[in-house]
Amino acid sequence: MAIVYLNGDFLPADQAMISPLDRGFIFGDGVYEVIPVYNGHLFRIHEHLRRLDDSLAGVRIPPPYDHQRWRAMLHELVKRNQGQNQSLYIQITRGVAQRDHAFPESINPTVFAMSSELKPLPQTIREAGISAITTEDIRWQCCHLKTIALLPNILLRQQALDQGAAEAILLRNGEATEGAASNLFIVREGKLITPPKGPRLLPGITRDLIVELGNRHGLPVLEAPITAAELAHADEIWLTSSTKEIMPVTQLDGQMVGNGRPGPLWQQMIRLYQDYKAHYTEDGQPGTATAG
Ligand code: PDD
Repeated sequence: MAIVYLNGDFLPADQAMISPLDRGFIFGDGVYEVIPVYNGHLFRIHEHLRRLDDSLAGVRIPPPYDHQRWRAMLHELVKRNQGQNQSLYIQITRGVAQRDHAFPESINPTVFAMSSELKPLPQTIREAGISAITTEDIRWQCCHLKTIALLPNILLRQQALDQGAAEAILLRNGEATEGAASNLFIVREGKLITPPKGPRLLPGITRDLIVELGNRHGLPVLEAPITAAELAHADEIWLTSSTKEIMPVTQLDGQMVGNGRPGPLWQQMIRLYQDYKAHYTEDGQPGTATAG
């Protein structure tokens, strides 16, 4: 039985109980993070905790813990669950109160965390890539906040699955912004392009690392809008996330992307990414000395 964390306690998942009056359950009033763990190291933990702070501030939930306490708790959770590679999920809701849209006074946030096995990307995807569809973005105007209210994302992802694809790439005002649960990159004339950060997309931690690796290794990276037409004619399309890393898209709306195989820039970037992962330690990340 997986061990989870709830409001200060570590306990088996089936013993973790939350009130039905929790505002996460009633309203979807909360935020979350997903953090990969490789070889026992919390990957890019400083960046994930900074984004969590931004999400909390964005929905006006007071931060329940400082970074030092988050890290100590997460390390303990990793220790109590099995596996060198894990995917950590943190959720914070505004807390438990009688149902009322207004923020309740003097309420304690609910803090929950769990871990699941982090599996490597299947060999079939590395060799053949995935299919994606494009569809209109039906989400709200604060997509930079990682909130637990994911119903539009769920519907969009399911729409892709129903059409035999793995992910939906979202369009707003004729521009492609991101996937239902991933960020977007295209390759055009040898340049790597990803949409600029803003309220239309989540500032992905994987996205930022790819931009950083591109810059460090002399690959031309541009943060610029991508029109639907540019997407349709891209030489390569990638979708990125903490759990799926960098997925090459080889079919878009039933048409082949490039020559229908994962492209050369993807091959190069996935090697750089795996190399970065293999050498990553939390040492040197702010606050490491005090991590539990
Ligand atoms: N989702 N955009 C959206 C809408 C996402 O939900 C995610 C990740 C990303 C990629 O962000 P990152 O590289 O920081 O994982 C972009 C997570 C994995 C999820 O909801 O499970």
